[in-house]
Amino acid sequence: MRNLNENTITQAVINRNEGTQNERLKEIMVSLVQHLHSFAREVELTEKEWEVGIKFLTDVGQICSEKRQEFILLSDTLGLSTLVIAQNHRKPEGCTEATVFGPFYVSNAPELALGANMSEGVKGTPWFVSGTVKSIDGKIISNAKVEVWQSDDDGFYDVQKDGLDHFEGRAIFNTNEKGEYHFETILPDAYPIPHDGPVGKMLQALNRHPWRPAHLHFMITAKGYERLVTHVFKENSEYLDSDAVFGVRSSLVSEWVQHENGQDPYGNRHNTPFSTLQFNFVLNPIVETKK
Ligand code: BEZ
Ligand code: FE
Repeated sequence: MRNLNENTITQAVINRNEGTQNERLKEIMVSLVQHLHSFAREVELTEKEWEVGIKFLTDVGQICSEKRQEFILLSDTLGLSTLVIAQNHRKPEGCTEATVFGPFYVSNAPELALGANMSEGVKGTPWFVSGTVKSIDGKIISNAKVEVWQSDDDGFYDVQKDGLDHFEGRAIFNTNEKGEYHFETILPDAYPIPHDGPVGKMLQALNRHPWRPAHLHFMITAKGYERLVTHVFKENSEYLDSDAVFGVRSSLVSEWVQHENGQDPYGNRHNTPFSTLQFNFVLNPIVETKK
């Protein structure tokens, strides 16, 4: 095919991709090519601008490493992550809502006993977190895997710290026979997403800030239930209404109770401030569809 012009190029590319046996890939590529070309037409993209676009995507790729997931940041800050999550988790009312995964999860966090401190030795205000995991029909879910991760009170995750040779602020707990989980940690605070790279430059050019409200990440898995990836946000935290990655849902905002002193839930006395959080999760059962 020769002599393609601005009116014929889109269909030519779609035709060229026809040969794939993968019907889903074909569907996605047809739509992607149509939308990409429509975008370029709509804004009358100049060569100079597309050069900048390619340089930006190159920079996003080049900064990526085991520890730096710039493409996740790009997807999150463009709202694409929230869109994809929303359309894949249309759950019954009453189920805990999902939100963005973020780039700081690791799969091999230590499995700790209920009640353990997952931020042992890390400076910060002691925080006692507890709750239950149940099904939407009220059934207790014992032995659910509760993976938790958080930043420290300077806003950094352990994986961002050079030279740290152990995990901090992350752990895996399993719910007990009553469907309960509980653990100790330190209070995290609001923090900016990594903004010293191309996504940070993009935010700056758009006059946007990189901050996220204070939150704690959870991923909960249990046999027979939809996996839940979510956060619990701190009530009244700054940036709840301007989260850089569009992750806040009202149902996930909860009171993180401050105590000036007194007994923690494990019966230990504190003469200095500590906080508590109680948050109950509700999972959506997977309904097997008969073939
Ligand atoms: C996070 O909360 O860990 C996070 C989410 C999206 C982008 C960056 C960080
Ligand atoms: Fe986070």
